[in-house]
Amino acid sequence: MKKILALLVTALFVGACGTKPTPQQVVEEQQPVPMVSSQETKEQQPTPVLSTQKALVAYFSATGTTKKVAENLAKALNADIYEIKPAVPYTAEDLNWHDKTSRSSVEMSNESSRPEMAENNISVKEYDVIYLGFPIWWGTAPRIVKTFLEKHDFSNKKIVLFATSGSSGMGNTAEDLKPSVATIAQIKPGKILNGNMSAEELRYWAQTMK
Ligand SMILES: Cc1cc2nc3c(=O)[nH]c(=O)nc-3n(C[C@H](O)[C@H](O)[C@H](O)COP(=O)(O)O)c2cc1C
Repeated sequence: MKKILALLVTALFVGACGTKPTPQQVVEEQQPVPMVSSQETKEQQPTPVLSTQKALVAYFSATGTTKKVAENLAKALNADIYEIKPAVPYTAEDLNWHDKTSRSSVEMSNESSRPEMAENNISVKEYDVIYLGFPIWWGTAPRIVKTFLEKHDFSNKKIVLFATSGSSGMGNTAEDLKPSVATIAQIKPGKILNGNMSAEELRYWAQTMK
C-alpha cells in the first residue's frame, strides 16, 4: 500500500513539473529577443521630414498680429525668422481702408505697386521651405509681399503661405502671388492662422503642408 501511495505521489509531482513553466522560463519567454542594438533601432525609426528641411519664416506685419504668429511658428519649427520691413513704415492713417486715398488703399488698387523694403539682407538659397506670412489686405496679400518675392530666386523651393485676417480666408492669395515667383517653385496656399495656436498645433499644421 505504501509503495502504491509513493508511486502515485511521484507520478503527480513529475506531471505537475512537466507542464508548468518554471519562473525562469516565464521570464525568458516574455523578454523580446533583441534583433538589433538599441542604436540601430533608433536609426531605423522614420525621421520627420521637417527635421531634415531647413525652414525660414519670412513675414510682413503692419500692426503686430502676424508678427506674433510668425514668431510662434519659427519657435515651434526651430526655423530662422526674417521680417519684411517696409522702407517707410505704415502709419495708422496709411492703414485706413475706409479711405480710398490712404496709402494702403492706393497700393492695393494698383496691381503694379511694389512698396520698397527697408532692407533685403536675407538669402533664401540655404532654405528648403519658406513659410511666408502676412495680413490679408483687401482679400489678398499686401503688395510688399510681391516686392519680397520678386527680389529672390525661389527655384526648387517650397513656399507655404500663412496669414492673419479680420475674418477673410486665404481666397485666391496663392494664385495672386504666383506670377511674382519667376522660377519653378511650389506655392502652398496655406492657411489663416488666427488665434493663439499652440506649438504642437503649429507643428501639426506645418506637417500637413509637406
Ligand atoms: C488695409 C487693410 C486691409 C484689410 N483687409 C482685410 C480683408 O480684406 N479681410 C480681412 O478679413 N481683414 C482685413 N484686414 C484686417 C487684417 O488682415 C488683420 O487685422 C490682420 O490680422 C493684421 O495683421 P498685422 O497686425 O500683422 O498687420 C485689413 C487690414 C488693413 C490694414
